Amino acid sequence: MIRLSRVAFNKIMKEKLNKLVADALKNLKEIKTIEEFREIEIKFLGRKGELAELFKMMGQITPEERKEMGQLLNEAKNKLETEFKQMFEKFEKEELEKSLSKEFFDITYPAIKPEKGSIHILMQLQKEVEDIFSEMGFAIMDGPEIESEYYNFEGLNIPKDHPARDMQDTFFIKDKNDEKHSRLVLRTHTSPVQVRTMEKYGAPLKVIMPGRVFRNESTDASHEHTFNQVEGLLIDKDISIAHLKGVMTEFLSRLFKKEVIVRFRPGYFPFVEPGLELDFSCLLCEGKGCRVCKNSGWIEFMGAGMVHENVLKAGGIDQAEYQGWAFGFGMERLAMMRYGITDIRLFTSGDLRFIKQF
Ligand code: DAH
Repeated sequence: MIRLSRVAFNKIMKEKLNKLVADALKNLKEIKTIEEFREIEIKFLGRKGELAELFKMMGQITPEERKEMGQLLNEAKNKLETEFKQMFEKFEKEELEKSLSKEFFDITYPAIKPEKGSIHILMQLQKEVEDIFSEMGFAIMDGPEIESEYYNFEGLNIPKDHPARDMQDTFFIKDKNDEKHSRLVLRTHTSPVQVRTMEKYGAPLKVIMPGRVFRNESTDASHEHTFNQVEGLLIDKDISIAHLKGVMTEFLSRLFKKEVIVRFRPGYFPFVEPGLELDFSCLLCEGKGCRVCKNSGWIEFMGAGMVHENVLKAGGIDQAEYQGWAFGFGMERLAMMRYGITDIRLFTSGDLRFIKQF
């Protein structure tokens, strides 16, 4: 390899630079297409292009020379970049004019609207339910979805090893070495919020407690492992089932914007005594009997009853003075009824064809 003197090396670099700039500008004038433009852009200004090569040679010159050469190189780079940019804009404009002259472009045509999300149907319905109960003077309470076994069962008069435990297949979470709050569960119903609310606020109480609940069940068209309930609780002096009948008749009539009739049947739930099931008159056939009400004229709606003395005790309520009722219903069933939805699994399927209908 021939060793060049410093002066010669410096001179060669300058010559190369001048030639590069002249070549690039000449090329730029001659090209006809955007493809040719891209080619020479890469050739001169690309990451491995001619100008980059010169920048690399800077490592071989002294710091003083580097200062001068650096300035020259940067000037050349800026100049070329400006020229190339102008040329690119010229091509762009030509392209646009060409396509505009070829096709009709209606600038008054409305733009594509960005997609907006929407509130899930169950949450819309929950809001409606909350609004109606609020208007009737009920407060709205919240409770944890991961619940202690105590609040989910014992506090509601469902002792360990009691057969009533089998009514609700439970997801257990883990052991905790705390006697009362021994194990954690995914709450199987919203009823635990009853005891929590009694403990926190005492009597009188007039609350609803909407929320998500979980059951360890295999799913089918009418069963899901995750669903939503609304719990209700009214505690005061001289409260009877008559108040429950009045409240539910009013609630359902406001919800369906139609006069609804309710009826009670006996039912068993450990946390109420007496326990009831509430049905309401089928809105589709108005009691005549149809497919939705299985020809009975009635829709099975919810469990309810007078709050059991053990539950009042757990909540620290003085039973000599206060009593009350509670209820719990499923939001999905209500939505399915109202909109004629035939499979509960659609709610959590994430299928936009379903979601977007509401
Ligand atoms: N927690 C019950 C369930 O999930 C529903 C229920 C029944 C709630 C009766 C109540 C009640 O408050 O009084 O099946």
